[in-house]
Amino acid sequence: MSSVLKLENVSKAFMDGDVQIEVLKSISLKVNRGEFIAIEGPSGSGKSTLLSIIGALLTPTSGSIFIDNENISKYQPAELTKVRLNNIGFIFQSSNLIPFLSVKDQLLLVSDINKSRNNEYKTKAAQLIHDLGLAHREDSKIHQLSGGEKQRVAIARAFMNNPDLILADEPTASLDSDRGRQVVEMLSREVKNMNKAAIMVTHDKRMLDLCDRVLHIEDGKLTERQKK
Ligand SMILES: Nc1ncnc2c1ncn2[C@@H]1O[C@H](COP(=O)(O)OP(=O)(O)OP(=O)(O)O)[C@@H](O)[C@H]1O
Ligand SMILES: [Mg+2]
Repeated sequence: MSSVLKLENVSKAFMDGDVQIEVLKSISLKVNRGEFIAIEGPSGSGKSTLLSIIGALLTPTSGSIFIDNENISKYQPAELTKVRLNNIGFIFQSSNLIPFLSVKDQLLLVSDINKSRNNEYKTKAAQLIHDLGLAHREDSKIHQLSGGEKQRVAIARAFMNNPDLILADEPTASLDSDRGRQVVEMLSREVKNMNKAAIMVTHDKRMLDLCDRVLHIEDGKLTERQKK
């Protein structure tokens, strides 16, 4: 099966003054379509660093990254921007939604101005708004929404450009556990319905049963945890 994401021996080191810190040590990973993956591990273990490398926001010190079977490791910044736009959807804890835009306009903003006038995009936005239970909120402004509603808008937005890979860094951190679970359930459902792949960093062990695989990072190494 062709993979959405493949990492081969990815390492990342940062300089802390004169000292080099190896945050990721030769990490390899393959993610297929339809898979919803959790990454957990102690604070400072490199989870966000790994997600940023996978999301083409940060370059590794060594190793290769394949997204949709394309080796992006040697890409120039302009090409990486294209990959981020077309192949990847990002969901972060503070999801950079624009407070005074409506839910609908927030989704249409992802596409460029020309595309947002396009009916295909409007249909897609309407479908996502419906799927994520936001229909009654589509004309509300972001600042009028609850934390859980905002996070669902962020999920919808991540799916707008039809990316194969969704990356979420602690998407439930600002939510209570019921709302957090609802949000992750919706993310999981969209991944399955649309046959995408998603990787979610989480501190919340109660979310792990919603994921297909659980990866653990510690001391720079990635290991796969057996699901109970
Ligand atoms: N740009 C940077 N320059 C130097 N060191 C960095 C940089 N980014 C991250 N680090 C270091 O790399 C390590 C991993 O950081 P990272 O943010 O990936 O951890 P994390 O697992 O996401 O932690 P948390 O659970 O607290 O979010 C930390 O020791 C951090 O200080
Ligand atoms: Mg982090």
